Amino acid sequence: MKILIVGSGGREHAIAWKIAQSPKAEKIYCAPGNGGIAEYAECVDIGAMEFEKLAAFAKEKEIDLTVVGMDDPLVGGIVDVFEKEGLRVFGPRKNAAILEGSKAFSKDLMKKYGIPTAAYENFTSPEKALEYLETAKMPIVLKADGLALGKGVLICNTLEEAKAGVKTLMLDKQFGSAGDEIVIEEFMTGREVSVLSFVDGDTIRIMTSAQDHKRAKDGDQGLNTGGMGTFSPSPFYTKEVDDFCKEHIYQKTVDAMKAEGRPFKGVIFFGLMLTADGPKVLEYNARFGDPEAQVVLPRMKNDIIDVFEACVDGTLDQIQLEFEDNAAVCVVLASDGYPEHYEKGFEITGFDAFAGKDDYFVFHAGTKRDGQGRILTNGGRVLGVTAKGKDLKEARKKAYEATEWISFANKYMRHDIGKAIDEA
Ligand code: AMP
Ligand code: GLY
Repeated sequence: MKILIVGSGGREHAIAWKIAQSPKAEKIYCAPGNGGIAEYAECVDIGAMEFEKLAAFAKEKEIDLTVVGMDDPLVGGIVDVFEKEGLRVFGPRKNAAILEGSKAFSKDLMKKYGIPTAAYENFTSPEKALEYLETAKMPIVLKADGLALGKGVLICNTLEEAKAGVKTLMLDKQFGSAGDEIVIEEFMTGREVSVLSFVDGDTIRIMTSAQDHKRAKDGDQGLNTGGMGTFSPSPFYTKEVDDFCKEHIYQKTVDAMKAEGRPFKGVIFFGLMLTADGPKVLEYNARFGDPEAQVVLPRMKNDIIDVFEACVDGTLDQIQLEFEDNAAVCVVLASDGYPEHYEKGFEITGFDAFAGKDDYFVFHAGTKRDGQGRILTNGGRVLGVTAKGKDLKEARKKAYEATEWISFANKYMRHDIGKAIDEA
Protein backbone atom coordinates (compact mmCIF):
# COMPACT_ATOMS: atom_id res chain seq x y z
CA MET A 1 0.00 0.00 0.00
CA LYS A 2 0.95 3.60 -0.51
CA ILE A 3 0.47 5.65 2.64
CA LEU A 4 0.50 9.40 3.21
CA ILE A 5 1.05 10.77 6.73
CA VAL A 6 0.07 14.37 7.47
CA GLY A 7 2.16 16.11 10.13
CA SER A 8 5.71 16.84 11.12
CA GLY A 9 6.37 16.04 14.78
CA GLY A 10 7.69 13.25 16.98
CA ARG A 11 4.23 11.70 16.89
CA GLU A 12 4.28 11.50 13.10
CA HIS A 13 7.80 10.05 13.23
CA ALA A 14 6.57 7.34 15.60
CA ILE A 15 3.57 6.70 13.30
CA ALA A 16 5.88 6.54 10.25
CA TRP A 17 8.21 4.12 12.03
CA LYS A 18 5.28 1.91 13.04
CA ILE A 19 3.76 1.94 9.56
CA ALA A 20 7.16 1.06 8.10
CA GLN A 21 7.16 -2.14 10.22
CA SER A 22 4.13 -3.40 8.31
CA PRO A 23 4.75 -5.72 5.37
CA LYS A 24 1.79 -3.97 3.71
CA ALA A 25 3.61 -0.64 3.47
CA GLU A 26 5.21 -0.33 0.05
CA LYS A 27 5.77 3.40 -0.04
CA ILE A 28 5.30 6.07 2.63
CA TYR A 29 5.01 9.81 2.05
CA CYS A 30 4.83 12.44 4.75
CA ALA A 31 3.65 16.03 4.36
CA PRO A 32 5.51 18.04 5.41
CA GLY A 33 7.57 15.58 7.53
CA ASN A 34 10.90 16.33 9.17
CA GLY A 35 14.58 15.32 9.18
CA GLY A 36 13.96 11.97 10.87
CA ILE A 37 10.74 10.95 9.13
CA ALA A 38 12.77 11.22 5.90
CA GLU A 39 14.40 7.92 6.87
CA TYR A 40 11.11 6.02 6.33
CA ALA A 41 9.11 8.33 4.13
CA GLU A 42 9.50 10.65 1.21
CA CYS A 43 8.84 14.08 2.68
CA VAL A 44 6.60 16.27 0.55
CA ASP A 45 6.68 20.03 0.82
CA ILE A 46 2.95 20.62 1.33
CA GLY A 47 1.67 22.17 4.56
CA ALA A 48 -0.72 20.22 6.79
CA MET A 49 -3.44 22.87 6.30
CA GLU A 50 -3.26 22.81 2.48
CA PHE A 51 -6.11 20.32 2.15
CA GLU A 52 -6.78 20.72 -1.56
CA LYS A 53 -3.12 20.35 -2.45
CA LEU A 54 -2.79 17.34 -0.19
CA ALA A 55 -5.84 15.68 -1.72
CA ALA A 56 -4.53 16.37 -5.24
CA PHE A 57 -1.20 14.84 -4.24
CA ALA A 58 -2.92 11.77 -2.81
CA LYS A 59 -4.85 11.29 -6.05
CA GLU A 60 -1.82 11.79 -8.25
CA LYS A 61 0.26 9.27 -6.28
CA GLU A 62 -2.68 6.85 -5.89
CA ILE A 63 -2.37 6.86 -2.13
CA ASP A 64 -4.31 3.98 -0.57
CA LEU A 65 -4.58 5.45 2.91
CA THR A 66 -3.87 8.85 4.46
CA VAL A 67 -3.22 9.09 8.19
CA VAL A 68 -3.63 12.51 9.79
CA GLY A 69 -1.52 12.96 12.91
CA MET A 70 -2.14 16.58 13.84
CA ASP A 71 -5.07 18.31 15.50
CA ASP A 72 -5.25 21.48 13.37
CA PRO A 73 -6.03 19.81 10.04
CA LEU A 74 -8.49 17.41 11.70
CA VAL A 75 -10.37 20.21 13.43
CA GLY A 76 -10.21 22.17 10.16
CA GLY A 77 -11.94 19.39 8.22
CA ILE A 78 -9.18 17.67 6.21
CA VAL A 79 -10.99 14.33 6.45
CA ASP A 80 -14.14 15.75 4.85
CA VAL A 81 -12.09 17.12 1.94
CA PHE A 82 -10.38 13.76 1.37
CA GLU A 83 -13.64 11.80 1.64
CA LYS A 84 -15.32 14.12 -0.83
CA GLU A 85 -12.56 13.22 -3.28
CA GLY A 86 -13.16 9.52 -2.67
CA LEU A 87 -9.87 9.08 -0.79
CA ARG A 88 -9.43 6.70 2.15
CA VAL A 89 -8.37 8.58 5.25
CA PHE A 90 -7.86 7.75 8.92
CA GLY A 91 -9.12 10.42 11.31
CA PRO A 92 -12.37 12.04 12.49
CA ARG A 93 -14.45 14.28 10.26
CA LYS A 94 -14.75 17.93 11.21
CA ASN A 95 -18.06 17.38 13.02
CA ALA A 96 -16.38 14.76 15.26
CA ALA A 97 -12.97 16.42 15.67
CA ILE A 98 -14.89 19.13 17.53
CA LEU A 99 -14.44 16.81 20.50
CA GLU A 100 -10.96 18.37 20.67
CA GLY A 101 -11.67 21.57 18.76
CA SER A 102 -14.18 22.95 21.24
CA LYS A 103 -13.80 22.45 24.96
CA ALA A 104 -17.26 23.96 25.48
CA PHE A 105 -18.70 21.28 23.15
CA SER A 106 -16.88 18.46 24.92
CA LYS A 107 -17.94 19.67 28.38
CA ASP A 108 -21.58 19.93 27.30
CA LEU A 109 -21.36 16.44 25.76
CA MET A 110 -20.02 14.99 29.01
CA LYS A 111 -22.70 16.72 31.06
CA LYS A 112 -25.50 15.57 28.75
CA TYR A 113 -24.34 11.94 28.76
CA GLY A 114 -23.23 11.70 32.39
CA ILE A 115 -19.52 11.23 31.70
CA PRO A 116 -17.49 12.19 34.79
CA THR A 117 -15.67 15.52 34.45
CA ALA A 118 -15.05 18.67 36.51
CA ALA A 119 -18.08 20.92 37.23
CA TYR A 120 -18.05 23.91 34.85
CA GLU A 121 -19.82 26.77 33.11
CA ASN A 122 -19.23 28.08 29.56
CA PHE A 123 -19.05 31.81 28.84
CA THR A 124 -19.10 33.89 25.67
CA SER A 125 -19.40 37.16 27.60
CA PRO A 126 -16.38 38.41 29.59
CA GLU A 127 -18.73 40.38 31.89
CA LYS A 128 -20.70 37.26 32.78
CA ALA A 129 -17.46 35.32 33.32
CA LEU A 130 -16.16 38.00 35.71
CA GLU A 131 -19.46 38.09 37.57
CA TYR A 132 -19.41 34.31 37.99
CA LEU A 133 -15.87 34.42 39.38
CA GLU A 134 -16.91 36.74 42.24
CA THR A 135 -18.65 33.89 44.05
CA ALA A 136 -16.57 30.96 42.71
CA LYS A 137 -14.28 28.81 44.84
CA MET A 138 -10.52 29.19 44.24
CA PRO A 139 -8.33 27.78 42.77
CA ILE A 140 -10.25 27.69 39.53
CA VAL A 141 -9.41 26.73 35.96
CA LEU A 142 -10.01 28.82 32.83
CA LYS A 143 -9.84 27.19 29.40
CA ALA A 144 -9.92 28.77 25.98
CA ASP A 145 -12.59 26.93 24.00
CA GLY A 146 -10.53 26.42 20.85
CA LEU A 147 -7.12 25.01 19.95
CA ALA A 148 -4.24 26.81 21.65
CA LEU A 149 -1.28 24.41 21.37
CA GLY A 150 -2.11 23.01 24.82
CA LYS A 151 -1.42 26.43 26.33
CA GLY A 152 -4.92 27.86 26.63
CA VAL A 153 -5.48 26.50 30.14
CA LEU A 154 -4.95 28.83 33.10
CA ILE A 155 -4.95 27.58 36.68
CA CYS A 156 -5.80 30.53 38.90
CA ASN A 157 -5.19 30.53 42.65
CA THR A 158 -6.84 33.82 43.48
CA LEU A 159 -9.78 35.89 42.26
CA GLU A 160 -7.33 38.50 40.94
CA GLU A 161 -5.48 35.92 38.87
CA ALA A 162 -8.76 34.55 37.54
CA LYS A 163 -9.97 38.01 36.53
CA ALA A 164 -6.65 38.65 34.81
CA GLY A 165 -7.07 35.29 33.06
CA VAL A 166 -10.46 36.29 31.65
CA LYS A 167 -8.81 39.43 30.30
CA THR A 168 -5.94 37.44 28.76
CA LEU A 169 -8.22 34.94 27.04
CA MET A 170 -11.31 36.94 26.15
CA LEU A 171 -10.25 40.58 25.86
CA ASP A 172 -6.53 40.55 24.94
CA LYS A 173 -7.20 37.42 22.83
CA GLN A 174 -3.84 35.89 23.56
CA PHE A 175 -4.99 32.74 21.75
CA GLY A 176 -7.01 34.57 19.12
CA SER A 177 -10.51 33.32 18.42
CA ALA A 178 -9.82 30.24 20.59
CA GLY A 179 -10.76 32.60 23.45
CA ASP A 180 -14.11 33.78 22.03
CA GLU A 181 -15.69 31.34 24.44
CA ILE A 182 -14.15 30.01 27.66
CA VAL A 183 -14.85 27.19 30.04
CA ILE A 184 -14.51 27.97 33.74
CA GLU A 185 -14.17 24.77 35.68
CA GLU A 186 -13.60 23.34 39.11
CA PHE A 187 -9.96 22.70 40.04
CA MET A 188 -9.27 19.01 40.56
CA THR A 189 -6.31 17.24 42.11
CA GLY A 190 -4.94 13.81 41.35
CA ARG A 191 -2.61 11.95 39.06
CA GLU A 192 -2.97 12.45 35.34
CA VAL A 193 -3.07 9.60 32.86
CA SER A 194 -3.29 9.66 29.08
CA VAL A 195 -5.25 6.86 27.47
CA LEU A 196 -5.28 6.58 23.69
CA SER A 197 -7.86 4.53 21.83
CA PHE A 198 -8.82 3.50 18.32
CA VAL A 199 -12.46 4.09 17.38
CA ASP A 200 -14.44 3.08 14.28
CA GLY A 201 -17.64 4.99 15.00
CA ASP A 202 -19.11 2.20 17.16
CA THR A 203 -16.33 0.10 18.67
CA ILE A 204 -13.52 1.42 20.83
CA ARG A 205 -10.25 -0.37 21.54
CA ILE A 206 -8.08 1.01 24.31
CA MET A 207 -4.30 1.19 23.95
CA THR A 208 -1.90 0.93 26.85
CA SER A 209 -1.77 3.91 29.27
CA ALA A 210 0.86 6.63 29.46
CA GLN A 211 1.75 9.69 31.50
CA ASP A 212 2.93 13.00 30.08
CA HIS A 213 4.99 15.75 31.74
CA LYS A 214 3.52 19.01 30.48
CA ARG A 215 5.57 21.60 32.39
CA ALA A 216 8.87 22.84 31.01
CA LYS A 217 10.96 22.41 34.16
CA ASP A 218 11.85 19.78 36.73
CA GLY A 219 9.41 19.36 39.59
CA ASP A 220 6.50 20.34 37.28
CA GLN A 221 7.58 23.97 37.36
CA GLY A 222 7.65 26.45 34.50
CA LEU A 223 5.27 26.95 31.61
CA ASN A 224 3.01 24.37 30.02
CA THR A 225 4.53 22.81 26.91
CA GLY A 226 3.38 20.27 24.34
CA GLY A 227 4.96 17.61 26.60
CA MET A 228 8.53 17.12 27.85
CA GLY A 229 8.52 13.36 28.27
CA THR A 230 6.32 10.34 28.84
CA PHE A 231 6.27 6.87 30.25
CA SER A 232 4.09 3.87 29.52
CA PRO A 233 2.31 2.10 31.10
CA SER A 234 1.19 4.26 34.02
CA PRO A 235 1.47 2.23 37.24
CA PHE A 236 -1.45 4.29 38.55
CA TYR A 237 -3.74 3.04 35.81
CA THR A 238 -4.90 0.01 37.78
CA LYS A 239 -7.47 -2.61 36.82
CA GLU A 240 -9.96 -0.80 39.04
CA VAL A 241 -9.40 2.46 37.16
CA ASP A 242 -9.63 0.63 33.83
CA ASP A 243 -12.92 -1.04 34.83
CA PHE A 244 -14.37 2.30 35.94
CA CYS A 245 -13.38 4.04 32.71
CA LYS A 246 -14.73 1.19 30.59
CA GLU A 247 -18.06 1.49 32.36
CA HIS A 248 -18.38 5.27 32.64
CA ILE A 249 -16.14 6.97 30.09
CA TYR A 250 -14.85 5.19 26.97
CA GLN A 251 -17.81 3.52 25.28
CA LYS A 252 -20.12 6.22 26.63
CA THR A 253 -18.11 8.86 24.77
CA VAL A 254 -18.25 6.92 21.49
CA ASP A 255 -21.99 6.30 21.91
CA ALA A 256 -22.60 9.95 22.78
CA MET A 257 -20.84 11.13 19.62
CA LYS A 258 -22.85 8.68 17.55
CA ALA A 259 -26.11 9.77 19.20
CA GLU A 260 -25.26 13.38 18.39
CA GLY A 261 -24.92 12.49 14.70
CA ARG A 262 -21.14 12.90 14.89
CA PRO A 263 -19.75 9.36 14.69
CA PHE A 264 -16.08 9.42 15.65
CA LYS A 265 -13.52 7.45 13.63
CA GLY A 266 -9.87 7.75 14.50
CA VAL A 267 -7.98 8.12 17.76
CA ILE A 268 -9.64 9.47 20.88
CA PHE A 269 -7.12 10.55 23.48
CA PHE A 270 -8.63 10.64 26.96
CA GLY A 271 -6.81 13.00 29.30
CA LEU A 272 -7.87 11.65 32.69
CA MET A 273 -7.37 12.80 36.23
CA LEU A 274 -7.53 10.14 38.92
CA THR A 275 -9.30 12.10 41.65
CA ALA A 276 -10.37 10.98 45.12
CA ASP A 277 -13.89 10.69 43.65
CA GLY A 278 -12.71 8.44 40.82
CA PRO A 279 -11.36 9.08 37.31
CA LYS A 280 -12.63 12.21 35.54
CA VAL A 281 -12.04 13.48 32.01
CA LEU A 282 -9.77 16.54 31.86
CA GLU A 283 -9.92 16.79 28.10
CA TYR A 284 -10.37 14.89 24.89
CA ASN A 285 -8.03 15.03 21.93
CA ALA A 286 -8.94 13.74 18.50
CA ARG A 287 -5.51 12.25 17.66
CA PHE A 288 -2.50 10.48 19.13
CA GLY A 289 -0.75 12.38 21.92
CA ASP A 290 2.71 13.71 21.39
CA PRO A 291 4.94 12.49 23.06
CA GLU A 292 2.51 9.74 24.21
CA ALA A 293 2.68 8.12 20.76
CA GLN A 294 6.44 7.81 21.19
CA VAL A 295 6.05 5.39 24.11
CA VAL A 296 2.78 3.70 23.17
CA LEU A 297 3.47 2.78 19.52
CA PRO A 298 6.87 1.13 20.16
CA ARG A 299 5.07 -1.24 22.58
CA MET A 300 2.22 -2.09 20.20
CA LYS A 301 2.33 -5.57 18.64
CA ASN A 302 -0.41 -5.21 16.00
CA ASP A 303 0.21 -4.28 12.40
CA ILE A 304 -0.96 -0.67 12.63
CA ILE A 305 -2.20 -0.62 9.03
CA ASP A 306 -4.70 -3.37 9.94
CA VAL A 307 -5.95 -1.23 12.81
CA PHE A 308 -6.20 1.97 10.73
CA GLU A 309 -8.12 0.11 8.03
CA ALA A 310 -10.48 -1.47 10.56
CA CYS A 311 -11.29 2.00 11.89
CA VAL A 312 -11.97 3.34 8.40
CA ASP A 313 -14.04 0.27 7.43
CA GLY A 314 -15.98 -0.04 10.70
CA THR A 315 -14.59 -3.50 11.51
CA LEU A 316 -12.65 -2.71 14.66
CA ASP A 317 -14.73 -5.27 16.56
CA GLN A 318 -12.66 -7.91 14.77
CA ILE A 319 -9.36 -6.55 16.09
CA GLN A 320 -7.81 -7.17 19.51
CA LEU A 321 -5.00 -4.79 20.38
CA GLU A 322 -1.89 -6.30 21.87
CA PHE A 323 0.94 -4.59 23.69
CA GLU A 324 4.31 -5.89 24.82
CA ASP A 325 4.60 -6.76 28.48
CA ASN A 326 7.32 -4.18 29.12
CA ALA A 327 7.67 -0.43 29.55
CA ALA A 328 8.93 2.58 27.65
CA VAL A 329 10.16 6.03 28.65
CA CYS A 330 10.61 9.03 26.34
CA VAL A 331 12.69 12.06 27.27
CA VAL A 332 12.21 15.10 25.04
CA LEU A 333 15.35 16.98 24.05
CA ALA A 334 14.31 20.58 23.51
CA SER A 335 15.95 23.86 22.56
CA ASP A 336 16.77 25.82 25.70
CA GLY A 337 14.14 28.52 26.14
CA TYR A 338 11.21 26.43 24.80
CA PRO A 339 8.24 27.06 24.95
CA GLU A 340 9.09 30.77 24.69
CA HIS A 341 12.17 32.02 22.86
CA TYR A 342 14.87 29.74 21.54
CA GLU A 343 17.42 29.56 18.76
CA LYS A 344 17.48 26.88 16.10
CA GLY A 345 19.64 25.77 13.18
CA PHE A 346 22.29 23.92 15.24
CA GLU A 347 23.82 20.67 14.00
CA ILE A 348 22.76 17.54 15.89
CA THR A 349 25.21 14.65 16.22
CA GLY A 350 25.14 11.21 17.80
CA PHE A 351 22.41 9.42 15.83
CA ASP A 352 24.80 6.60 14.91
CA ALA A 353 24.75 5.36 18.51
CA PHE A 354 21.11 4.28 18.02
CA ALA A 355 21.84 2.10 14.97
CA GLY A 356 21.07 -1.58 15.43
CA LYS A 357 19.62 -1.14 18.94
CA ASP A 358 16.04 -2.43 18.91
CA ASP A 359 15.18 -1.05 22.35
CA TYR A 360 16.17 2.53 21.59
CA PHE A 361 14.45 5.09 19.38
CA VAL A 362 15.19 8.67 18.50
CA PHE A 363 12.06 10.30 17.14
CA HIS A 364 12.49 13.68 15.47
CA ALA A 365 10.15 16.52 16.35
CA GLY A 366 11.78 19.77 15.22
CA THR A 367 14.64 18.86 12.89
CA LYS A 368 15.51 19.35 9.26
CA ARG A 369 18.22 18.13 6.89
CA ASP A 370 20.52 20.60 5.21
CA GLY A 371 21.96 20.07 1.74
CA GLN A 372 25.06 18.36 3.12
CA GLY A 373 23.40 15.48 4.91
CA ARG A 374 23.55 17.13 8.31
CA ILE A 375 20.57 17.25 10.66
CA LEU A 376 19.81 20.61 12.26
CA THR A 377 17.57 21.71 15.11
CA ASN A 378 14.42 23.29 13.72
CA GLY A 379 11.97 23.74 16.59
CA GLY A 380 11.33 23.92 20.32
CA ARG A 381 10.93 20.21 20.88
CA VAL A 382 13.78 18.74 18.86
CA LEU A 383 13.92 15.00 19.55
CA GLY A 384 12.17 12.35 21.63
CA VAL A 385 14.63 9.79 22.96
CA THR A 386 12.73 6.61 23.83
CA ALA A 387 13.95 3.38 25.38
CA LYS A 388 12.11 0.17 26.21
CA GLY A 389 12.96 -1.93 29.23
CA LYS A 390 11.55 -4.89 31.11
CA ASP A 391 10.01 -2.43 33.56
CA LEU A 392 9.66 1.34 33.95
CA LYS A 393 12.81 1.75 36.00
CA GLU A 394 14.96 -0.02 33.44
CA ALA A 395 13.35 1.90 30.57
CA ARG A 396 13.97 5.20 32.37
CA LYS A 397 17.62 4.37 33.03
CA LYS A 398 18.13 3.43 29.39
CA ALA A 399 16.31 6.49 28.05
CA TYR A 400 18.42 8.85 30.13
CA GLU A 401 21.59 7.03 29.06
CA ALA A 402 20.61 7.49 25.44
CA THR A 403 19.98 11.23 25.90
CA GLU A 404 23.75 11.50 26.44
CA TRP A 405 24.48 10.07 23.00
CA ILE A 406 22.97 13.12 21.31
CA SER A 407 24.68 16.52 21.17
CA PHE A 408 23.58 19.92 19.95
CA ALA A 409 24.05 23.50 21.10
CA ASN A 410 21.36 24.66 23.58
CA LYS A 411 20.15 21.08 24.27
CA TYR A 412 17.66 21.13 27.17
CA MET A 413 15.73 18.38 28.92
CA ARG A 414 13.93 17.63 32.14
CA HIS A 415 15.83 15.32 34.45
CA ASP A 416 12.82 13.95 36.32
CA ILE A 417 10.77 12.26 33.60
CA GLY A 418 9.21 9.20 35.23
CA LYS A 419 9.96 10.31 38.79
CA ALA A 420 6.41 9.28 39.69
CA ILE A 421 7.43 5.68 39.02
CA ASP A 422 9.26 5.69 42.38
CA GLU A 423 6.02 6.63 44.15
CA ALA A 424 3.99 3.79 42.66
P1 AMP B 1 -6.05 20.32 29.22
O1 AMP B 1 -5.46 20.91 27.98
O2 AMP B 1 -7.50 20.56 29.38
O3 AMP B 1 -5.65 18.88 29.43
O4 AMP B 1 -5.30 21.05 30.41
C1 AMP B 1 -3.90 21.13 30.48
C2 AMP B 1 -3.44 20.78 31.86
O5 AMP B 1 -4.02 21.68 32.81
C3 AMP B 1 -3.88 19.40 32.32
O6 AMP B 1 -2.99 18.42 31.88
C4 AMP B 1 -3.88 19.56 33.82
O7 AMP B 1 -2.57 19.44 34.33
C5 AMP B 1 -4.34 20.99 34.00
N1 AMP B 1 -5.78 21.03 34.23
C6 AMP B 1 -6.74 21.11 33.28
N2 AMP B 1 -7.97 21.12 33.83
C7 AMP B 1 -7.79 21.02 35.16
C8 AMP B 1 -8.67 20.98 36.28
N3 AMP B 1 -9.99 21.06 36.14
N4 AMP B 1 -8.12 20.86 37.50
C9 AMP B 1 -6.79 20.80 37.67
N5 AMP B 1 -5.91 20.86 36.65
C10 AMP B 1 -6.39 20.96 35.42
N1 GLY C 1 0.96 15.31 25.11
C1 GLY C 1 -0.29 15.93 25.11
C2 GLY C 1 -0.89 16.12 23.81
O1 GLY C 1 -0.50 15.54 22.83
O2 GLY C 1 -1.84 16.89 23.73
